[in-house]
Amino acid sequence: MSTTLTGVRGPGSGVRTESTESTENTERAAFDVQTIRADFPILRRQVHGRPLVYLDNAATTQKPQAVLDALTAYYTGTNANVHRGVHHLSEIATLAYDGARSKVRAFFNAASDREIVFTRNATESINLVAQAFARPRLTAGDEVLISAMEHHSNIVPWQLVCAERGARLRVAPIDDRGELILDAFEQLLNHRTRLVAVTHMSNALGTVNPIAAIAGMAHARDIPVLVDGSQAAYHLPVDVQALGVDFYAATGHKLYGPTGIGVLYGREARLEQMPPFLGGGDMIASVTFERSTWNELPFKFEAGTPNIAGAIGLGAALDYVTGIGLDAIGAHEQDLLAYGTEMLASVPGVRMIGTASRKASILSFVMDQVHPHDIGTIVDREGVAIRTGHHCAQPVMERFGIAATARASLAMYNTREELDALGAALRKVHGVFA
Ligand SMILES: Cc1ncc(COP(=O)(O)O)c(C=O)c1O
Repeated sequence: MSTTLTGVRGPGSGVRTESTESTENTERAAFDVQTIRADFPILRRQVHGRPLVYLDNAATTQKPQAVLDALTAYYTGTNANVHRGVHHLSEIATLAYDGARSKVRAFFNAASDREIVFTRNATESINLVAQAFARPRLTAGDEVLISAMEHHSNIVPWQLVCAERGARLRVAPIDDRGELILDAFEQLLNHRTRLVAVTHMSNALGTVNPIAAIAGMAHARDIPVLVDGSQAAYHLPVDVQALGVDFYAATGHKLYGPTGIGVLYGREARLEQMPPFLGGGDMIASVTFERSTWNELPFKFEAGTPNIAGAIGLGAALDYVTGIGLDAIGAHEQDLLAYGTEMLASVPGVRMIGTASRKASILSFVMDQVHPHDIGTIVDREGVAIRTGHHCAQPVMERFGIAATARASLAMYNTREELDALGAALRKVHGVFA
């Protein structure tokens, strides 16, 4: 069978190919970061008179031209509401929207499109599970188990539902490197545990959790597992069936897609058991004033007009990422992570926060006598964008006895030269405060 290596992308495709023709057994073309960079228009801009060095990817990634083109093409040539019209535009908008769902299904290797729900973001995906899955099942004294490295989005929804139902939120500890202490996690599983909700990858530390092992421990006790995949999904290949999880939440804007579009993967059997999360148009089969019945999966969970353009843009982003390959992206980012870790160790006064043996793409650090906000402000003047603060993970900061970190986070288009620029900017910071 003949396929193109680069999917729908145009000349700037992020991979160098001898020919666009290939077979399923052909190895992927070499990863070429300069070709990839050319696909991201924003990387050509300057900030404060310097070339932009964008190292805030854990907050949101930049968008390749293919995504921008998909959004423009949708609004200029296709715009119509979905699932409602018999007219031509509505039909092709519906095909494109449902086609994007199939791309998401393939990307995460879900068993069926029925298991892919479009949401606004990962936060909404997690809230959907908290409200429609956990809430009806929790009674007083039940427990939800999370880890000490969670983003607020995977803490607060459980606090809300636990408070309402008289249930208890339990927290599995992490060690000084920022790794989940698996023995302690397993000991916290008990007959009152109704759900495990853990991150695949920490946005504050970079730690990658052993999800298959965690799911195995939980499932041995019949406890369902939700995974927050917000960070992992754009750094590691994710196969929800191989991981064996019940729910997987992801967010489009970190996956090189638009803002306002998120994904919830849910096992079909679980989603079938759940009541709707929001009520309104599209999620119903029939409505009378006495009662309503629900649409089939996944539409039962998609009330109102969805983010059609966002879904289509996300589909284009997944084509782009798949065309390059998450294995190649991950290898490039691991090289940068090692290079950046060594570079930071050479900057006077810098201490890394998060040194897990399995980590990805996050360089979180503090600097003696310098507040992280001052670091961020000074390096910004050099054109280097990093994030400073608690990264929506205040309990992680508390665990390490700090208020904030400076965080450089990597994506497929970053280079060693950009990390050198960060190093030079940090030496200036040191010079100012020494
Ligand atoms: C680990 C993690 N979980 C959840 C979220 C929430 O993502 P969103 O704001 O797109 O819902 C983030 C975003 O930073 C994150 O890093």
